[in-house]
Amino acid sequence: TGKGSAIKKIIEGLKKLEYRGYDSWGIAVRTDQGIIIRKKVGRIGSIDSNSLGLQDGCNAIGHTRWATTGHVKDNNAHPFRDKDNQFSIVHNGIIENYLELKEELRQDGVAFTSDTDSEVMVHLIAKYYQENSNFKEAVLKTIARLQGAYAFGVIKNDSDEIIGGRNGSPLVVGVGDNENFFASDVSAIMEHTRRVIYLNDFQITRLTPGEVTVYDFQGIRVPYEIKEVNWNLEQAQKQGYNHFMLKEIFEQPQVVQESLSAPVSINKNVSRIIIVACGTAYYAGLVGKYIIEKTARVPVMVEMASEFRYREPLFSDKDIVMAISQSGETADTLAAIRLAKQGQAKTYGIINVKDSTIAREVDQVFYTRAGPEIGVASTKAFMAQVVTLYQIAFSLAGKVLNTEGLLPALRQTLALSSSIRNLAQKYFQYHNFLYIGRKAQYPLALEGALKLKEISYIHAEAYPAGELKHGPLSLVSEEMPTLALCPQDSVYEKTFSNIQEVKARKGKVIALATEGDTAIHTVSDDILYLPQVEEVLYPLITAIPLQLFAYHMADLRGCDIDKPRNLAKSVTVE
Ligand code: M6R
Repeated sequence: TGKGSAIKKIIEGLKKLEYRGYDSWGIAVRTDQGIIIRKKVGRIGSIDSNSLGLQDGCNAIGHTRWATTGHVKDNNAHPFRDKDNQFSIVHNGIIENYLELKEELRQDGVAFTSDTDSEVMVHLIAKYYQENSNFKEAVLKTIARLQGAYAFGVIKNDSDEIIGGRNGSPLVVGVGDNENFFASDVSAIMEHTRRVIYLNDFQITRLTPGEVTVYDFQGIRVPYEIKEVNWNLEQAQKQGYNHFMLKEIFEQPQVVQESLSAPVSINKNVSRIIIVACGTAYYAGLVGKYIIEKTARVPVMVEMASEFRYREPLFSDKDIVMAISQSGETADTLAAIRLAKQGQAKTYGIINVKDSTIAREVDQVFYTRAGPEIGVASTKAFMAQVVTLYQIAFSLAGKVLNTEGLLPALRQTLALSSSIRNLAQKYFQYHNFLYIGRKAQYPLALEGALKLKEISYIHAEAYPAGELKHGPLSLVSEEMPTLALCPQDSVYEKTFSNIQEVKARKGKVIALATEGDTAIHTVSDDILYLPQVEEVLYPLITAIPLQLFAYHMADLRGCDIDKPRNLAKSVTVE
């Protein structure tokens, strides 16, 4: 909301938020003809605000959708409006009791235009507004009826106010010069202002061009703190690489260097660490388990947050529950942390996005130094998470991590990119892959298989190499290549003999081995030689060829690498 034209700002802002969801987009603008809405299935990527043919206005809302309730179709795209076109709303989250609310509104005569949960919100606001013509109160009464998670913004046809609110989904307010903004994250608004307010759960905000006010859900005004964003917009651009993912892979030596220079110290009086995370962050946690248990002799459990939150886990006040999350907004990880707090455990976070919800809610946060990660497939954030876990392990043990030779080794590994492209030329038409590794290379196998699945849509399974003969060996054939992680570590011989088992069944083998390993030739079809480092550091080295292999395979298959189908960068719904 402001004095100038809003449409261009909304469209450009939505393009920055597209990584959160990109199956439909929509915009509502308040004009002297009333609220006008334009919404469509598809990506906002190529939309130019001038070609929309929309009358401009000074306040507007927009949304980019990733379907949860209701198929991908124009009608289900946001914004939604009430029947008198008095209000229009955008929503991120899930309203769990929407069916019951929908039924109640239907009995009041409301006709719904979509299958979404979100639409009930706008009709409820309109209903409560009729009671005493108070916009803010109508929003608060609506909130009192909702169960679930939400961040939302709503405009009114005859007012320059926007009201936004949150409970469980992120919302940030941008404080401008005679204009104010809200968005799901700062990248959408940082072109216009770097002064932001991170709303907390159970707060709403009322924005006019000249004023920002924040209230709790009882309608009582609450103080807020304006923070300065010090990100560089440049960091969020591709800098000459074809994809953000490739750029982010190549940034890793610098990310490791910066992460190593960030001091990490942790209370040594801990009986157990429970790591909670999802996806790649979970696999980083598994690497952490190997390193922390070996180095610091502290027991570590690693839990998928989506399972942990529902299985009534046991804690003691001597436990540390540690969330790992790039975005700091993953709904399941956030819920796991809240559960841990209820159980009196101490909560820690290894988080990339500054001041994100998890970062704000944990007792202690270790920020990873990956910078903004835009590609949906996590690469440099994984690297930074693993480095931070190493630092935690060595701090707990009171030891010093020897990283000599690590940075040149990472650069040397990145230089394999063109050989990996050649390798991908040979394999990109296969439909199934097996990834194997032992000890800390097992989580790397899981992570490599996830990278391949998510961006190239090739099926890949990861197993501890020693598990092969307990079942998956029967999958091995000429049609299903095996990618074997076999650096010169303490289990090299064991992994080597598992690779022999694959070879004996006519399986094709791609080995990631250490320079100088001549024996590996006898059991492999293709070899990627990696520099020799301390055993503890091998996971950082093997991560790179796995990322590059997935990247080149996906590129050769013509996949949309930075925005793989069905996935969003930040999973703020469960
Ligand atoms: O933001 P988070 O680290 O909490 O996200 C967790 C997962 O959603 C994320 O790592 C996901 O698995 C990535 N797409 C994997 O590349």
